[in-house]
Amino acid sequence: MQEIKGKAQVAELIRTQRATRQYSQQAVSEENIRTILNAGRRAQSSKNTQPWQFIVVRDRETLKQLAEGGMYAAHVPHAAFAIALVTSEAGRPNFDLGQAAAYLQLAAWDLGIGSCITWMHYPEKAKEVLHIPADLEFHVVLSFGYPAPQEHPQPPKRTVANPLMKWCIGNAGHRSPILLNDLWPLFVKHKVDSKTSGLPNNAFVGHLFFWCLLLLWYLLLLTTAQGATEK
Ligand SMILES: Cc1cc2nc3c(=O)[nH]c(=O)nc-3n(C[C@H](O)[C@H](O)[C@H](O)COP(=O)(O)O)c2cc1C
Repeated sequence: MQEIKGKAQVAELIRTQRATRQYSQQAVSEENIRTILNAGRRAQSSKNTQPWQFIVVRDRETLKQLAEGGMYAAHVPHAAFAIALVTSEAGRPNFDLGQAAAYLQLAAWDLGIGSCITWMHYPEKAKEVLHIPADLEFHVVLSFGYPAPQEHPQPPKRTVANPLMKWCIGNAGHRSPILLNDLWPLFVKHKVDSKTSGLPNNAFVGHLFFWCLLLLWYLLLLTTAQGATEK
């Protein structure tokens, strides 16, 4: 296996990449556009079907027309270029397209080029602009350009402790200690499947609660009875 250099850099690219919607006037070279496209075509896809076509748009007038295909696309006409992501069918290929989009964006950011995913809420209109056949799916345009100086000095805001990111606790034959305050958010917010997660289910916690109450009541009774005999 080939040695991979710059491992730490990928983490830094992911950490700092943001949706860039304000672009400088600086043009992006064709060489850089090709580097970005190559990263996209190297993305993984289900059964390696690579169900995508990337259409590069540099013409300002076409970018303006494309912007009319989305509800939140005002930044598109100001981009240095855009890549339309087209696929042959709906469903799983859209997940593949998502993988390609991430690669395209990270490769661009590696070159200092910002980007923004832009949803085509009116795909029929957008298809017309690029002469895309009606039987193909076209919902996403990625706009690219060097960020304007005032654009995003801060790293992106992301949730730090997401309950969905909890580690799976325990597995068959081996259980790690479970902290109750770790579990409550899971029970409240997400119905935990005890068979797959190894966690006790809601019914179990309910029973535990009931028996603890009963035990408490019994202990209380005992102490009052003892107090009565001591008198
Ligand atoms: C599926 C998808 C659709 C998006 N559509 C749009 C869009 O139509 N217009 C837009 O300006 N941003 C769009 N975005 C960009 C998101 O708003 C952006 O990634 C998110 O707010 C995080 O921004 P940040 O990385 O700067 O924190 C889209 C992102 C995704 C993943």
